[in-house]
Amino acid sequence: RGLGDVYKRQIRKEVEQMNKCWCGSGLDYEVCHREFDKKINYYKKRGVMTPPRSMIKNQQQIEGIKKAAVVNNGLLDHIEKNIKIGMSTEDIDVLTREYLKEHNAHSPDLNYEGYPKSICTSINDVVCHGIPSSDVILKDGDIINVDATSELNGYYADASRMFMMGNVSDEAKKLVKITKEAMYEGMKAIKPWKSHIGDIGKAIQRYAHINGYSVVEEFCGHGIGMTMHEDPYVFHFKTKEDTVLIVPGMVFTIEPMLNQGTRHVHLNYNDDWTVYTDDGKLSAQWEHTFLVTEDGVEIISK
Ligand code: MF3
Ligand code: CO
Ligand code: CO
Repeated sequence: RGLGDVYKRQIRKEVEQMNKCWCGSGLDYEVCHREFDKKINYYKKRGVMTPPRSMIKNQQQIEGIKKAAVVNNGLLDHIEKNIKIGMSTEDIDVLTREYLKEHNAHSPDLNYEGYPKSICTSINDVVCHGIPSSDVILKDGDIINVDATSELNGYYADASRMFMMGNVSDEAKKLVKITKEAMYEGMKAIKPWKSHIGDIGKAIQRYAHINGYSVVEEFCGHGIGMTMHEDPYVFHFKTKEDTVLIVPGMVFTIEPMLNQGTRHVHLNYNDDWTVYTDDGKLSAQWEHTFLVTEDGVEIISK
């Protein structure tokens, strides 16, 4: 009756669909993640904790995240150029809102679990989540962490930098420098198909301790890409917990917070966000978003 062709075409389409890769690339599974799955299964059978598919980004997603990272880096560059003694942290929030608007991007911080601003500005003994305010003025000698997250076309990137205002003490300079190096120690622990997420924290904590600093344990790095915070947790200290194998296609942040004194911190119960060191000593943080590749790692937020 002539319906045979229609039927055949439909079956062919369905079979084609069946052969498509689970990663959403639209490619045939055979040429996409088949070899990847073989490796995953090899480790899984040997009792290694492998990451679930939800932690693996496809090419299109990686490109989207990279574009968001270009905006996020541009924003941090823009702040770096304009930050100066005498300005308020609210001014940094204004710069952020303007820059993101100009670039058709959004801040996922704004209204995140009630967070009132578009960026985090954490000065001296503020560990993280400092809320921009017109009452907080940058002074000579301050060290400040500016933590920016940008969303562009549904993709997310996250990074933070330290800025040193005017004449900063040698002790503060050293903390800022060692914290940045600690982040890179964590990065060096990324070995696709070899190391685990837990190795990152081990390396960071070791480096912090040999330099006489403590590591904050209440806040972790995180998977990122389709939302701001995804699995896995990326600890910055040694844990007893089993952690997943690091494999290509994973995208996550490393964002250690190092303290001069005690690692212990407390929350400001008035604003429910600002985190301080318990002893009032300095804290520093650096953050990048990383992509695990076949043979290493790429800093997306750079
Ligand atoms: N940028 C932070 C991070 O590194 C998250 C921002 S918290 C918010 O994970 F409250 F400001 F949204
Ligand atoms: Co951040
Ligand atoms: Co982050």
